[in-house]
Amino acid sequence: MDTIREMISRQCIAKKVEELADKLNADYEGREVVLVCVLKGAAMFAADLMRHIKLDMTIEYMELGSYDGSESTGKMRIKKDFDADISGKDVIVIEDIVDTGFTLQFLYEHLVAKDAASVAFCVLLSNPTRRKEGAREPEYVGFVIPNQFAIGYGLDYDGKLRQLPFVGSLVMVQD
Ligand code: IMP
Ligand code: MG
Repeated sequence: MDTIREMISRQCIAKKVEELADKLNADYEGREVVLVCVLKGAAMFAADLMRHIKLDMTIEYMELGSYDGSESTGKMRIKKDFDADISGKDVIVIEDIVDTGFTLQFLYEHLVAKDAASVAFCVLLSNPTRRKEGAREPEYVGFVIPNQFAIGYGLDYDGKLRQLPFVGSLVMVQD
């Protein structure tokens, strides 16, 4: 039976989300921003974060997939893109977790190709252990976590457990 261990409580997440929003509000003051929420994992984070954003903003949604089922191969494909014109605009990508950094790199190139004036990344979690050398580092990070598989608050295991209001780690027990 697998057990879920709470890593970050909903109260801690709520406080951090406000802190991140405050930083974005200060750093982008007076500018028009486009948030890009990476589905499905960042949906809950983006929904909570944008409630605290006081900037002139719009939000777009993208969904990525991989060709072979594992998300950390670097072989990404876009399952859902957006049509909005972001040329000359400041883009802030909202992502659930950065692991190897392939996803961030892929998104960066894609959004620069769409002519964004700037592209920054705001991620809830960072697992730096598995980062590939030279990978993009996010500008805004909620929590740095140890090398454990994170679930909850949008993050899934095999599509499940996204609804948990806290971030947990999955402890897999062989029985
Ligand atoms: P990267 O491309 O290796 O940085 O992986 C980032 C993507 O892999 C995220 O968007 C997540 O969808 C997924 N991912 C990486 N680590 C975890 C985890 O611990 N739990 C859930 N999803 C993860
Ligand atoms: Mg993802």
